[in-house]
Amino acid sequence: MKKVITYGTFDLFHHGHLNLLKRAKALGDYLVVGVTTESFDINRGKLNVQQPLMERVRQVKGTGLADEIIPEEYEGQKIDDIQKYGIDVFAIGSDWEGTFDYLKDYCEVVYISRTEGVSSTSIREQGQLLSFGIIGRGKMASMFVDESKFVSGVYIKQVCDPGEDLKVTGKMMEEVSAVYILSEPDKRGRYVKMALEKGCHVMCESPVSLRREETKELYRYAEEKGLVLFETLKTAYFKGFSRLVLLVKGGAVGSVKSIDATCTSMKPSNSWFYGSHGGGSMTDWGPFVFLPVLKIFGTGFEKCSFTSYMDKENQTDLFTQVTMLYPEGIASVRAGCGVKSEGSLVVSGTKAYIYVPAPWWKTEYFEIRYEDPNQNRRYFYKIEGEGIRYEIAEFLKLVRTGGTNFAMEEHISETISALMEEYLYERKNNSWI
Ligand code: CTP
Repeated sequence: MKKVITYGTFDLFHHGHLNLLKRAKALGDYLVVGVTTESFDINRGKLNVQQPLMERVRQVKGTGLADEIIPEEYEGQKIDDIQKYGIDVFAIGSDWEGTFDYLKDYCEVVYISRTEGVSSTSIREQGQLLSFGIIGRGKMASMFVDESKFVSGVYIKQVCDPGEDLKVTGKMMEEVSAVYILSEPDKRGRYVKMALEKGCHVMCESPVSLRREETKELYRYAEEKGLVLFETLKTAYFKGFSRLVLLVKGGAVGSVKSIDATCTSMKPSNSWFYGSHGGGSMTDWGPFVFLPVLKIFGTGFEKCSFTSYMDKENQTDLFTQVTMLYPEGIASVRAGCGVKSEGSLVVSGTKAYIYVPAPWWKTEYFEIRYEDPNQNRRYFYKIEGEGIRYEIAEFLKLVRTGGTNFAMEEHISETISALMEEYLYERKNNSWI
């Protein structure tokens, strides 16, 4: 019996897929089809696949052409499969011409001519292209433009300077379906409101506003209007970070008693803060260092105290330490701007601890460490580009299908605003300034 294998995502099954499967089947007597899993696709940079794995499998099954369907989960799996299933022919569309020649050491390799004029990408884009307007300039705005190219279904229509006349910004909002706001934090709330009023879905840098009540109201308003309000904070959308949180919640380190997180940079990354609120470590890094604490311990802290070392001349806080007391443990987070330190994250529990080396906020690698080092485990998660593409893909998914933003839930978003509000109040009124 001649066995053939082929692989694909098979998202939004179309006639190009059907032709491919028919031709592959005709090359032998038995067809194995590998359908890629979500995490494999994300790892190879294929974002915003719309259908879950089982739905895509069902569609392939529905053709009646596959004798066996398997998931494709990891790089290098093809060689394993060819050996495991005793494959004679590896078949794939001609868009991959040459890429899989290395499999010729294991079986025959056939490139099947691709059906012209159809692809999952083009179907995803048809009639549901999300046009974006950006409010903000500089490095982050251009990074957003570059990263958006990796998410099919999105295009950037216009970029507005936050200093621009509100009429110009308002006009832009009327012409797009979504806006990305990265203006000064004290102005974000106003832009978010305006965008929602004009019927736009909103992606907004963290914090959404510097007042808890305002953030709360904005979420309520978005809900009322049936629009998505989405707070961006890269770490929250990285697979490594969400896996870390899930492992901790699943008891991997026992009961968590302490969380230590540090983020520092030599230069302010958000120079906008050198406006009405003064800038520095907390305004640059606050949302980042709070994130693991709020995700793991929750938002029910009993006490929170800030201590900053101020550079009085420049009115910036060079280094801030925040201690948060919870019924079940303590968190101690540090932020520096113009001070360099080890930017690691340690989550300590009653069984083990998790160590994430600098820069922890990228969470590409972490270890669970036990008293007995033989039990230690290591985890790796690759991030493509600047990572903004993951946020855009998640946003697009919420706009299209609705649901909850589990990476950055409303109560976390509100608490980040509340903590920043508290910090700025202390900074203005207390003696440690
Ligand atoms: N294929 C094909 N003709 C098309 C589209 C896909 O022959 N018009 C083939 C691909 O070459 C591959 C298989 O179908 O062998 C599965 O492809 P997949 O990547 O899932 O489909 P695409 O439509 O190319 O998806 P995307 O646009 O997301 O890249």
